Amino acid sequence: MCGIIGILGKEAVADDLVDALRRLEYRGYDSAGIATVDSGRLDRRRAEGKLKNLQKVLNTQPLAGLTGIGHTRWATHGAPTEQNAHPHATSEVSVVHNGIIENFQSLRASLEARGVRFDSQTDTEVIAHLITEELHSLGNPIKAVAAALKQFEGAFALAIIFSGYDNMMIGAKKGSPLAIGHGDGEAYLGSDAIALAPFTNEITYLEDGDWVVLTRENMIIRDMDGTVVQRERQVVDVSTMAIDKGEYRHFMDKEIHEQPDVISDTLSGYVNFTTGKVQFEEMPFSFKDLPKITISACGTAYYAGLVAKYWFERYARIPVEIDVASEFRYREAPMEKGGLMMVISQSGETADTLAALKYCKQQGQHIGAIVNVRTSNMAKEADVVWPTMAGTEIGVASTKAFTCQLTVLACLAIQAGRERGTISEELEKELVHALLEIPREISTFLKDESQFEELANSLSKARDVMYLGRGLSFPLAMEGALKLKEISYIHAEGYAAGELKHGPIALIDEKVPVIVVAPKDYLFEKTLSNVQEVASRGAKIVMITDAQNVDVGNEPLAVIQMPSLHDFVTPLLYAIPIQLISYYTAVQMGTDVDQPRNLAKSVTVE
Ligand code: M6R
Repeated sequence: MCGIIGILGKEAVADDLVDALRRLEYRGYDSAGIATVDSGRLDRRRAEGKLKNLQKVLNTQPLAGLTGIGHTRWATHGAPTEQNAHPHATSEVSVVHNGIIENFQSLRASLEARGVRFDSQTDTEVIAHLITEELHSLGNPIKAVAAALKQFEGAFALAIIFSGYDNMMIGAKKGSPLAIGHGDGEAYLGSDAIALAPFTNEITYLEDGDWVVLTRENMIIRDMDGTVVQRERQVVDVSTMAIDKGEYRHFMDKEIHEQPDVISDTLSGYVNFTTGKVQFEEMPFSFKDLPKITISACGTAYYAGLVAKYWFERYARIPVEIDVASEFRYREAPMEKGGLMMVISQSGETADTLAALKYCKQQGQHIGAIVNVRTSNMAKEADVVWPTMAGTEIGVASTKAFTCQLTVLACLAIQAGRERGTISEELEKELVHALLEIPREISTFLKDESQFEELANSLSKARDVMYLGRGLSFPLAMEGALKLKEISYIHAEGYAAGELKHGPIALIDEKVPVIVVAPKDYLFEKTLSNVQEVASRGAKIVMITDAQNVDVGNEPLAVIQMPSLHDFVTPLLYAIPIQLISYYTAVQMGTDVDQPRNLAKSVTVE
């Protein structure tokens, strides 16, 4: 889960490489580097930490050259030091890599046995040495790469340049994403279209096993067997790829505030405003005939799926199995043929989710993908794609992608209920009406955030925080805890409120704030009893509720007053306060909100 870029330019490429890396920083940001070929000679600059450190190095030691590659890293093998930063190079070959070479230890051992010396702890360095070794024996970079690629196991997207070759770059893709950008007398390689957006909107996506020999004028793509193949050249909409914070302090803040608009956009793709009903393009299956739905996803997307489980089971009376993709992919779950498997993913590239999808395909499931990136691998693999219209999400903490995923899932649950005859026309209209109210409700809610600043003051002093919820609010409690952990680094747990007394209540004392997601639904009274249980053990309670004047047993730390809504749509609105709680707490603590430590936006390694 790193970002890679390659440019065959008409002018010096160092600045453009850094610019592209800035757009790729969401994929990893613990070190960065670039390399160029200048007058036939390879050279590189690398720096530990954020891109600004690399920029500083380049300010004092600039790099010339019209051909170059760049990398922004999320460390897998070896600490995030300058020594381990990409590009990895010999005097003849320089390479940037996204992915993991799984057999790097055995390759490294054989190279070392043949006298090769390594400078880093990375898996990537074997690529540079192996290609160099093949180059010495075969005398030609193209043959050398072809021979080396056969020896790598695992996932990789590569961009490779060679000393003595000012007009050639080789790219290869297996598992990790890689796109070719077509310019006017220029050519590019990049992890995604976002990186290439300032240069071109004409893109060719490589398929797994493809490798390309690229010059400024030409490209030849071959598959794994060395056969020349044609891949479609497409024009992508780069207007949706703006990565500008505008007037906001952080991307996360901006993305939270974009939710009324992007939820509206998403709804307009799935709701017929004239009939007040949901509408989907024809699907390759009928919900009526499905024995079961299986959902698999990671992180926040998994919590969206968990909310959907409640919706599908309650409103469409269809059994739903859900598991995190990293577990599901290896569980060897038996599956009745003809079921529906749904993946949910902002990026559409998450390695574990993609693997879960592939497993289900083999098991004869229909595959539906809810993704934010329509050109992603998951979208390509699925039988049917239900896009979210969230626009590019840059903040590592997922916000607008989550609520747009919920929007699509809510529409799908209504569609399923209609097809299965479990909801009436009236109920469908009532649910759709409630969904259509959400953008306005969020917009109104976001008008006054003063309370969150105050609350963040107290939460930022806590060592542990507990989030509680029942029913549809249980996944939200887990999502709230995840958000708090990932950007404020406060230890937080999300629990089903009724489960607390089976162990975790032992953690409760007056130092532990307990945030309760409690819309006044059919489970409210039960949640309230659980709140009394923790309050009587001294916990400081934060209630997020539409109930008025609730007695929580002692003076609450805060009550976040919500408007009353249809039960069905509460997760969409209640997501907002939990996002704001984590955002304001992180700001208060002075953490790097958009690029929190140890994380990356797109997790393309397992
Ligand atoms: O791109 P995906 O939606 O597949 O990503 C899944 C998770 O990595 C992601 O939701 C992660 O948990 C977020 N950082 C949470 O805010």
